[in-house]
Amino acid sequence: MAGSATVRFVLDGDIVELNDVDPTRTVLQFLREDLRRKGSKEGCAEGDCGACTVVVAELDRSGDGVLLKAINSCIQFLPTLDGKELITVESLADGESLHPVQKALIDNHGSQCGFCTPGFVMSMYALYETNANPGRQDIDDALSGNLCRCTGYRPIVAAATEMYSATAPIPKDRRQQLQQVQRGDSLQIEHRGRRFFAPANVDEFASLLQQNPEATILAGGTDVGLWVTKQHRELQTVIYTGRIAELNELDVSDSYLSVGAAVTLTAAIPAIVRQYPRLDELFRRFASPPIRNAGTIGGNIANGSPIGDSMAALMVLDTSLVLRCGTLERELSLDSFYHGYMVSDLQPGEFIARVKIPLPTDDAIVSSQKWSKRFDQDISAVCTAYRLVVRDGSVSAFRMACGGLAATVSRATKTEAAINGQPWSDATIENACLALAEDFAPITDMRASADSRLRVSQNLLRRFFAETQSEQLPTVYTYGR
Ligand SMILES: Cc1cc2nc3c(=O)[nH]c(=O)nc-3n(C[C@H](O)[C@H](O)[C@H](O)COP(=O)(O)OP(=O)(O)OC[C@H]3O[C@@H](n4cnc5c(N)ncnc54)[C@H](O)[C@@H]3O)c2cc1C
Ligand code: FES
Ligand code: FES
Repeated sequence: MAGSATVRFVLDGDIVELNDVDPTRTVLQFLREDLRRKGSKEGCAEGDCGACTVVVAELDRSGDGVLLKAINSCIQFLPTLDGKELITVESLADGESLHPVQKALIDNHGSQCGFCTPGFVMSMYALYETNANPGRQDIDDALSGNLCRCTGYRPIVAAATEMYSATAPIPKDRRQQLQQVQRGDSLQIEHRGRRFFAPANVDEFASLLQQNPEATILAGGTDVGLWVTKQHRELQTVIYTGRIAELNELDVSDSYLSVGAAVTLTAAIPAIVRQYPRLDELFRRFASPPIRNAGTIGGNIANGSPIGDSMAALMVLDTSLVLRCGTLERELSLDSFYHGYMVSDLQPGEFIARVKIPLPTDDAIVSSQKWSKRFDQDISAVCTAYRLVVRDGSVSAFRMACGGLAATVSRATKTEAAINGQPWSDATIENACLALAEDFAPITDMRASADSRLRVSQNLLRRFFAETQSEQLPTVYTYGR
């Protein structure tokens, strides 16, 4: 595989060219330690607090448009910036004139400590650039990845509402600059015996992985990044999927939605929710926008966490995975993908190419519920999903899958058997709750006790029943009242 070793990206109108880049150096380390550009802060180094938020601009798939997205620079590896523009809190003010986001924060007394404020500014800037008329929920969502434990969000929300009243500096031609840093070939870096590859197409990726079956596949890095920043693991060979067009495709056919494994959650979620509107709340509560902007559906499935959020819903939909090794592809039901805690059916040199999600049928109700300590930006303690078809008062098809109750996300087969063919009634649900206790023997950990996990999952099933009797019940929370 031929390719260049120079990482090239745009920063403040200049093209930055870096040689001999450490493959797992984070964007935040580069900013703070190499450039001594210290506006972006390190709070947690695990994508949770938002103090390190920056915005990345990149060409869209057509090459004509530009996408801007907030990401967490603390877990993003520097070589993934290749071909993009990096925008930091220092980039916003135009000489003496503050950006409208910054001005609105000052005017509304929303500028708080120097730790959290730069991250808030960048999340608001991403909102400013991508949504000209956000509602309250859009603003809450945009800020959900920025934590402040000291004061309050009210003045920041007020600033986010008001920031549109001032005029922003005329944007420079981002597209033209981005075109200058595009590459046709692959990127390959060798640094002190460690290697980073960013193949340009899926065939190159497949053959590279076959030659290096021990390599770490890197997609959004929202799991892998933490292996480095928190577990201090040294990754010898990293192969990045972000530049592979084939893995970034999203298509709808007559019978299924096909989501490339490297499609970000931000891009995949609207396509899934369009088909299954009741999954909206689950996906809105999946991490935060910066994590969803980087993280992918393939990464969520491949990582295989028992508390991963997408898998329960995808399992009840009878989703299958297209797996590829070299030139060979095989299709496997997601139900059969996991063999144990963080162990999957993926063979050495094999990767997830795409995820095939069947389209809805008219009479099926599909829903998923997430139970976590915080509403936003929190990992599930329990996540449940259901697909139900009732005909003439009795259940003709019922599937249920759960995360947080076993070593893998898995189907609740005894519960399904207790419901299928029965009247869709309170009595059936109570019987099924007993079966649910036979399906799973959850553990106690820092997120929840075994007992509460089981009881909550039973209550979530009761709640799903209630929802089918009326409208979907949104999780109720109040805006700081
Ligand atoms: C602050 C924070 C909040 C989070 N909140 C949630 C949440 O609410 N719900 C949730 O489910 N998860 C959450 N996560 C976990 C994470 O964001 C998701 O699992 C995400 O989908 C991972 O995708 P990624 O592209 O970043 O994967 P990466 O980190 O790039 O990779 C994850 C794993 O998948 C493998 N992999 C990636 N692509 C492929 C492929 N095509 N084929 C084979 N293997 C592949 C990698 O080698 C690695 O083992 C959170 C993470 C953070 C840091
Ligand atoms: S430092 Fe906390 S999200 Fe990056
Ligand atoms: S963390 Fe900055 S004011 Fe709370």
